[in-house]
Amino acid sequence: MPRTDGFPDDFIWGCATSSYQIEGATQEDGRGLSIWDSFSHTPGKVAEGHTGDVACDSYHRYQEDIALLRELNARAYRFSTAWPRIQPEGRGAPNQKGLDYYDRLVDALLESGIEPWMQLYHWDLPQSLEDEGGWANRETAFRFQDFAGIMFEHFGDRIQHYSSLNEPWCSAFLGYREGVQAPGKTDKRLAHRAVHHLLLAHGLAQQSYRQTGLAGKFGIVLNPARQRPATSRLEDIAAAERAWIESTRIWLDPLYGRGYPELFLQLFGADLPLQEGDLDIIGQGLDFLGVNYYFEQVVKAVPADEQNPYGWALAETWHEKTAMDWDIVPEGMLRLLRYIAGDWPVSELYVTENGAAFDDMPNTRGVVHDMDRIRYLQSHLRACRDAIAEGIPLKGYFVWSLLDNFEWAYGYRKRFGIVRIDPDTLNRIPKKSFYYYRDVIAGYGL
Ligand code: FCB
Repeated sequence: MPRTDGFPDDFIWGCATSSYQIEGATQEDGRGLSIWDSFSHTPGKVAEGHTGDVACDSYHRYQEDIALLRELNARAYRFSTAWPRIQPEGRGAPNQKGLDYYDRLVDALLESGIEPWMQLYHWDLPQSLEDEGGWANRETAFRFQDFAGIMFEHFGDRIQHYSSLNEPWCSAFLGYREGVQAPGKTDKRLAHRAVHHLLLAHGLAQQSYRQTGLAGKFGIVLNPARQRPATSRLEDIAAAERAWIESTRIWLDPLYGRGYPELFLQLFGADLPLQEGDLDIIGQGLDFLGVNYYFEQVVKAVPADEQNPYGWALAETWHEKTAMDWDIVPEGMLRLLRYIAGDWPVSELYVTENGAAFDDMPNTRGVVHDMDRIRYLQSHLRACRDAIAEGIPLKGYFVWSLLDNFEWAYGYRKRFGIVRIDPDTLNRIPKKSFYYYRDVIAGYGL
């Protein structure tokens, strides 16, 4: 039966996770250390000293995860591959046992009729590469190209959608400038070097993908934002423009062949290790763009300093908030998709992450009634439907996340899953939002 809910029949309904957040088994089968192992084991970096050592144990329980995806009748699963499982030291011949794990996962997904969307990199850089400078070192971009090449050669016959990096803004700015994510550095010059090398890594991997002649699609996943100025004062408007450059234009402009924004070059051009030909490698355009959206930022001007060189900060708002203290603004998602589709020649757009953390707990019967998450998903899916009705090329939506998982510096305290993980047994317990999403996928309307 054709759908009547405003979503096309071929819309991609999916769920997303990432390797370090769910896999656990960090010492098994030859996996090397990643920057997140080091960071989470450094006292004071992650809430309550939590680490990804066990996480959801998906390394051993992936079949349970896939059973959940089947129960949802999800069409796609976006997962990421841990680079240090494949190349424990970040270079050289692949570790067969690492490939074997993703073979098991990919094959089981395909057997279940679920499209595997492979996210090559979701923040777990091999520690050995960080020891040589990490993303601030140009070499890392070439090492990423090699890693990606292994993944194309080994999985290319089974993967139709590869994305290179997840939210490089976080890798560069939270990792190397604010220091709240791995590797925990606090130097804006390193962060800007990282920006360029991340983009270069993407471009080099894309070149390699084209050279394989494989017919799948290659894209990137960003967390773009179109910040709203808190007031109509000129300084707030200017701060919002700078935030838009930092969060969005320094990524999308070069990716679509327009080079870096003028203002960015004026302010920070001196930090950029740009070499001849780099912008051609980066600016090949994308087969698809993944957008992660959680909330709309309202910003005000503040004095610039080392950790905040663009001189903007989040302003107080009146919106309801999630447990992350993030505003709930579904219209902001529609506004953002409009800006993105209007300003860049994006052919296919996917919401590759959207969801919310709440302090949800099971009741005495073990049931998690997460009505606030259901309302969040519902309102954001309405925004997706409106985007499609306006002609925005939105082709799919992935809930973040299938499982409660290791929420980076927040540890396990912040829970985004539509499935609860029992902290003692690691058993999977679908929340009410799981069944809501199953109904949405089935076409029962929002
Ligand atoms: C995004 C990350 C994802 C998860 C969500 C809540 O920034 O890509 O891993 O942490 O936020």
